[in-house]
Amino acid sequence: MRGKQELIDKLIGIQSSRKSYYSELNAIVGELQKKNKQLEVINRLTQIHVEKSWEEVSNYLAAQFSQVLSFDRFVLTLIDKSELLFYISQPDATDWSCHFVKRSIQTKTALSVGEFKKLLKKEMPDHYGTSVCLQNQSGKIYGFLTLLNRNRVEYPREDLELYKTMGEHVRVSIENILLFKDVSEKVKIEAQLIQSAKLAALGEMAAGIAHELNSPLTAILGHVQLLMREIKEGRPGKMLEDIYQCGLRSKKIIQNLLTFSRQEEYQFETIDLPDLIEDVLGLIGYQLAVSGISIQKDIDRTLPPVRGSRNQIEQVLINLLLNAKDAVQEKSDPEIIIGTCLASLEERPYVSIYVRDNGVGIEEEDISQIFNPFFTTKEKMKGTGLGLSVSLGIAESHGGKLLVDSKVNEYSQFSLLLPIQESEGVE
Ligand SMILES: Nc1ncnc2c1ncn2[C@@H]1O[C@H](COP(=O)(O)OP(=O)(O)OP(=O)(O)O)[C@@H](O)[C@H]1O
Ligand SMILES: [Mg+2]
Repeated sequence: MRGKQELIDKLIGIQSSRKSYYSELNAIVGELQKKNKQLEVINRLTQIHVEKSWEEVSNYLAAQFSQVLSFDRFVLTLIDKSELLFYISQPDATDWSCHFVKRSIQTKTALSVGEFKKLLKKEMPDHYGTSVCLQNQSGKIYGFLTLLNRNRVEYPREDLELYKTMGEHVRVSIENILLFKDVSEKVKIEAQLIQSAKLAALGEMAAGIAHELNSPLTAILGHVQLLMREIKEGRPGKMLEDIYQCGLRSKKIIQNLLTFSRQEEYQFETIDLPDLIEDVLGLIGYQLAVSGISIQKDIDRTLPPVRGSRNQIEQVLINLLLNAKDAVQEKSDPEIIIGTCLASLEERPYVSIYVRDNGVGIEEEDISQIFNPFFTTKEKMKGTGLGLSVSLGIAESHGGKLLVDSKVNEYSQFSLLLPIQESEGVE
């Protein structure tokens, strides 16, 4: 009987020690679970949403990598022309938080891993980094992934292999994001070009119509005013008042249209922006304050002066402030910030004057339309839908831009960018 049992034990490999058999089995199960986890993580690395910001991407990668490799911090580095963009993620109480550092690099040729390591060491001198590079199909290195540790760590070969495989998957995701950002930028530029062409055509047409309408309208208003002096009472008096108000409103539209289409109407001068902003707030600040809106100023006084038409720039800011006022009307803590800062777009320097509100925001499908003449979401008698198209015309006649950024129910920010002349800002 015993001989039989021994034989069975031998056949199934337990032999003398059941304990070692189970611990072996446990080790195999553990190994399989680990491999499974690694596969799960690798799978998740290819699911990064293309619309995420680079900070979010870095935190997401750090969270995934930390499930299978140990490290103190994680860095996603991207090379953008002559700049290195470091997105450094570190764990906080519950999640990962990212901080961003930008550095210029001198090298004209592609950056090697060795050179990159030296640059990273300069940035994080008290850390040791283990990096893999991100390389596109044609072999060009466009970034790096780095595991940072406060103490020198020798990762086992198996971990390094895994890290390399993960890097390969991240590369695909990052290339998709880069491609998406590139395409969205092109689509945006194309939309702007179409819009400018459309506006130019509309501008010419509008100027003609506005001129034609201006004289009869002046006559209508004049005659109604005369009649109003004679007939003040009753229904006729009320009707005349209505005709007069509608006439005034039409005149306002026509004046806006004329400003919108006029090109060399105003004299350009050197403008002191803080001073101009004070003037604008002097004009409508009171109106905003009595509506219970808090107005904050965030003015950079060190900016170079810009050249432009004072009247027209004032008009843009008034349009933007009035829009902001309408947007925050229903808010319990209405706030508008007007500020200035340096900005750069397509590698050209601008001074930006921005108006930001914490109002209703703009629906995504409306963003492409708000600069079109007559586009308005306001009640019939309230908005003419010309404010922004007039403002865009003014921005463009200054060689500048009018940009918008908004999130529904959170904020809207409009930035008027005015070019800094080459000779200004130097010296
Ligand atoms: N700060 C803002 N917040 C939310 N929506 C805005 C903001 N600014 C503009 N908009 C949207 O853009 C539309 C167009 O603005 P625009 O200034 O051209 O016209 P309007 O304000 O409607 O009329 P007008 O300025 O001629 O009296 C607005 O109706 C509104 O829907
Ligand atoms: Mg408006």
